[in-house]
Amino acid sequence: YKRITVKSLIEMKEHGEKISMLTAYDYSMAKIVDSAGIDVILVGDSASNVMAGHETTLPITLDQMIYHASSVIRGVKRALVTVDLPFGSYQSDPKEALRSAIRIMKESGAHAIKLEGGKEIKESVKKILNAGIPVMGHLGLTPQSIYKFGSYTVRAKQEEEAAKLKEDAIFLEKMGCFAIVLEKIPAQLASEVAESVSIPIIGIGAGNGVDGQVLVLHDLLGMTYEFSPRFLRRYMNLYEDMSNAISQYVDDVKDGDFPNDSEQY
Ligand code: KIV
Ligand code: NA
Repeated sequence: YKRITVKSLIEMKEHGEKISMLTAYDYSMAKIVDSAGIDVILVGDSASNVMAGHETTLPITLDQMIYHASSVIRGVKRALVTVDLPFGSYQSDPKEALRSAIRIMKESGAHAIKLEGGKEIKESVKKILNAGIPVMGHLGLTPQSIYKFGSYTVRAKQEEEAAKLKEDAIFLEKMGCFAIVLEKIPAQLASEVAESVSIPIIGIGAGNGVDGQVLVLHDLLGMTYEFSPRFLRRYMNLYEDMSNAISQYVDDVKDGDFPNDSEQY
């Protein structure tokens, strides 16, 4: 395998090759996702929802993110593994942001970190980059600020918010970020941003005019049937398939059908 690096991603954009990215939170899933050929694995703080069952991404801790990230790393041979800095681990001051990023890199073996926001987190981004840690930005719908927004609706529809988002993207590129996630914004705005910077723009609910796409793995697999935004394409109905398999097992145990003669010693 030729490992994907932050350099390879920037080259992909130069050559017009789209970047594929998915989340993973554990060893077994990461191994499948990596060997299927994904470019970037995100250990997202969506683990707070998908893995822990919280309503928002706010409760997940730095220690929990490190646990998920180190499990993922053990399953990955090729993909670039990027880890979200969780809420509360970087907002209060740049030194704490750097300490959190260093802990993720040292304790999990991840290759890069991601954090939400633009100019507001300038000093933190600068400190982390100066320590040699690659940083991915995240603009548009930033779920760690959900209580400020009040809802998960499309962001940057108004001129003012769109203008700030464009400025923030250029700003993050100038600072030295290697890529930016744009979440749930108008497709037209997202493609304008992708054209205005030379680093890859990875979209989720941001249309097809960007340099790559990211989805939450459990959404793509159809394990989270109650979550159905327009931008989600489901490639399986794994919730149903798993549920059927498990009911079948329950029946087989109850009926005394499992194990049979060839399934015992
Ligand atoms: O945590 C996450 O899964 C994310 C992606 C949706 C970009 O940040
Ligand atoms: Na996230």
